[in-house]
This record gives sequence, structure tokens and C-alpha cells, in this order.
Amino acid sequence: MDAPAGGTSSATHAPPAPHHATVKKRHYSDRTKILLLFLITNSVSILLSVSFSHVTGVGSGDEDSPLDFAFSVLSSSQSLAIDLHRRIEATDAIIKRLISNSGKMKRDEPPPKLTPEEELTLALGPHTLPFGYTPNLDSDKLYPAVGAACHRHRDELKKYMRYNVTGDCPSDEAFAERLMLRGCEPLPRRRCRARGPAGFPDPTPFPESLWVIPPDKSVSWGPYSCKNYSCLVDRARRPGSQDCKACFDLAGKEQRRWVGHGGDLDYDIDTVLASKPRGTIRIGLDIGGGTGTFAARMAERGVTVVTTTLDLGAPFGAFVASRGLVPLHLGAVAGRLPFFDGTLDIVHSMHVLSNWIPGDVLDAELYDIYRVLRPGGIFWLDHFFCTGKELTEVYVPIIEKVGFRKLRWNTGKKLDKGPNADEWYISALLERPMM
Ligand SMILES: *[C@@H]1O[C@H](CO)[C@@H](O)[C@H](O)[C@H]1NC(C)=O
Ligand SMILES: *[C@@H]1O[C@H](CO)[C@@H](O)[C@H](O)[C@H]1NC(C)=O
Repeated sequence: MDAPAGGTSSATHAPPAPHHATVKKRHYSDRTKILLLFLITNSVSILLSVSFSHVTGVGSGDEDSPLDFAFSVLSSSQSLAIDLHRRIEATDAIIKRLISNSGKMKRDEPPPKLTPEEELTLALGPHTLPFGYTPNLDSDKLYPAVGAACHRHRDELKKYMRYNVTGDCPSDEAFAERLMLRGCEPLPRRRCRARGPAGFPDPTPFPESLWVIPPDKSVSWGPYSCKNYSCLVDRARRPGSQDCKACFDLAGKEQRRWVGHGGDLDYDIDTVLASKPRGTIRIGLDIGGGTGTFAARMAERGVTVVTTTLDLGAPFGAFVASRGLVPLHLGAVAGRLPFFDGTLDIVHSMHVLSNWIPGDVLDAELYDIYRVLRPGGIFWLDHFFCTGKELTEVYVPIIEKVGFRKLRWNTGKKLDKGPNADEWYISALLERPMM
């Protein structure tokens, strides 16, 4: 919500901080108010949020000559430009309508009604900046950050944008998350109030919170088959297979994960930390961290770990947060990690990275993990699952090519289906080299 820092040339035109805007609100004209609203409500992104859906699906057939392909890309980028132009005009028209209406608006009058399609156009932008070209953004427009794949799911997005402006948001978390999983990430913003669970209790103080099952009232249970935490804890003992089936049971198997040595593939946290000078592993990321137990064990050792998790069938995000840990809501596995280059001391991933991910996506993901690790930082690949053939022919070459230094490397059979099942795990400690 803040304009990017740095550079003084635009300081005189910089939008006031949101706090400032609230205090001085009365002194601004309605027009300014609306413009401020757009500045504050649209995340600043200089990334062009144009749709790439036009580009894919064109000219990829084997019989196409390279020239045909080049032409089809050219013409699709033309239609892309036309689409963008149309969208700018549409946004401008809606904003004009909002502004001219707001001049006549009375205090308690409802805001002008927009159709879901118009609401979506507003959310996708782009929005013309009130002071024109702004050097920090290198643009005269604001482009809301929206996942490129959002443009593929137009009908679902329109449904997503069907809400009452200034009212409560619909309870559609599961629907929203399904969109995210299909690459519509970030989702467009909505001008409605998110609803929380009624009677939300104070959190349990840290560090006691790390191993306490939170109160049921800290969660909206709407979309889930379990309606309380004892039901989720208990699913460890019920038949059926769910993602992270036993990981709400903090008194069970979860207690023993990553502490004490359990076998060649099971590294323990203290040994991993000891592979680096004391205290130099301080911040990190756990990709697909379930209920946050890896981060909890790290927190006990003074290491801050952010946990990416999803509310797939259960309120994982709320649970991690109740433990006093940071859940990061990331849906698409194919997305760039939201961290600076060369900053993290450790990245850990268990189970989520495995042979269900296409090789080319995994390849890009490993380079991205390399990118966010600092030189000397560690990638702990924990129980990467695949078949024996995939292991030697696909995954080992992909992993080795990235350029990590192997501090530790173990492959071993997954034994729960017997010794003859061709199912393998890789566990590894991979270091980003110092150079
Ligand atoms: C909008 O508000 C009206 C009146 O409160 C309500 O009946 C309607 O269901 C709401 N629509 C949505 C999509 O939430
Ligand atoms: C928890 O929810 C389950 C169903 O989801 C229900 O059968 C059970 O009685 C509930 N338990 C408590 C303690 O509320």
C-alpha cells in the first residue's frame, strides 16, 4: 500500500500515508478522496498484469514452421495490446462515473452500484495516476497485482466479485482458494469487509502457544467437514487419507518430527543447525509446512521460519497462526517465492515437493529456492518422493544441475508398501555456494 521507497523526485507528489489521510480526510475534496481511495486500495505493482492466456495455446503444434509461430505470437501480442487498451478505457469510464456520482453523494447514501463485471474491471485496473508519471513506479498508471491465470477464469472471477460494496464479504474462502490453486494469485481485491469468527478469543501467550490446540472459536468452520479441533486431532486415528492427516495431533507423532534420529532419511534439526556456525541460521521458509510444527521446533531454537500452507480441507492457516507462527497463504506451486534475492538462511520442504510436480516446474522452483537463499544458505529437501526410474532419470539430474553443494544426500526406499514397491525418497541438505 505504500509507494516504493527511495528517490526524492516524486516526494512532492507522493500520496500521504494512510494514517495521515484519515486524519485530514475532511479537508480533501470528494474528487481527491476518491483518487486517494484508489491509491490506498490498490497495491502498487509495476508489473503489467496483462493476460498471457492469449499467447499460450497458439502455434505450439509440431507442424507449425518457426515463421508461423513467430507470426502467431506477434498477432496475439497485438490482441493483447488491444485488450489492455480496452481495459484502460473501461476502468477510466467507471472511475469517472464514481467521481461524478461522489460529488452529489450524501453522507449516508449507498455508494454507486457497479455490476460484478465493472467491479472486476476496477479491481484489475489499470488506474491512471492523479499526478501523471511517477518516477518510483516508472509509470503513469497503477497496475493492481493479479495473477496472470486470473484472466483464464473470467466467469469464476465474476462470481467472486459478486458482493455488496461496503458490506460483509461472502463466506467463500474455499472457492477463493480453489482459484488460487489454479494460479489466480494474487486474487483481485474486493471492496467488502472480511468476516471473522464470532467471539474470537485472545491468543494463548507465546511460547506456550506452540503446543496448544487453539480454541474452536478462533476459526470459522464454514467450509470444513470437521467443525472443531478435537475432530481434526482425532482424524489421525480414523481411516481415510487426507493431506497432513495426523498433523493436528500435537501430542502424537507430531511431537517426534525433526527431533532425535529416526533413520538415514530423517535428519534432526539440531544436527542440521550444527552444520553451520552457531547462530547463523536465523530466518527461513518451510514450503508446504502443514500445521507449522517445523517452524515451532525452529522457534524453540530462536530461528524464525515462515510456513506456507493452504486451507485444504481444514483451517491450517488459522492453526499455524494460533501457535504464534507466521502462515503464508501461497496457492500455486508454480509461483515465484515472495522473498528478496539472497536473504534466507534456510528453506525446508517436506512432502509437497515430489513427483506430482512436472519436471520443468520443479526445475524452476529449485532455481527460485536457490535465488532466495543467501550464499551459504541451506535447502533441506526432506523426503522427496518418486519411483526408482524417476529418481535416476529425472529428479537427480534436475536437482544436481541447479548448482547446490551437497552437504548431505540420502536416498532410500519408502517401505510402507513392502520392500518390493518401487517407491523412493530423497533427503538432502543442499547449500547455495558462497561464490
Ligand atoms: C447484499 O445485501 C443484501 C441486503 O443486506 C442481501 O440480501 C444480499 O444477500 C447481499 N448480497 C451478497 C452477494 O452478499
Ligand atoms: C466436534 O465435531 C464433531 C463433528 O464434526 C462432533 O461429532 C463432535 O461432537 C464435536 N465435538 C465437540 C467436543 O464439540
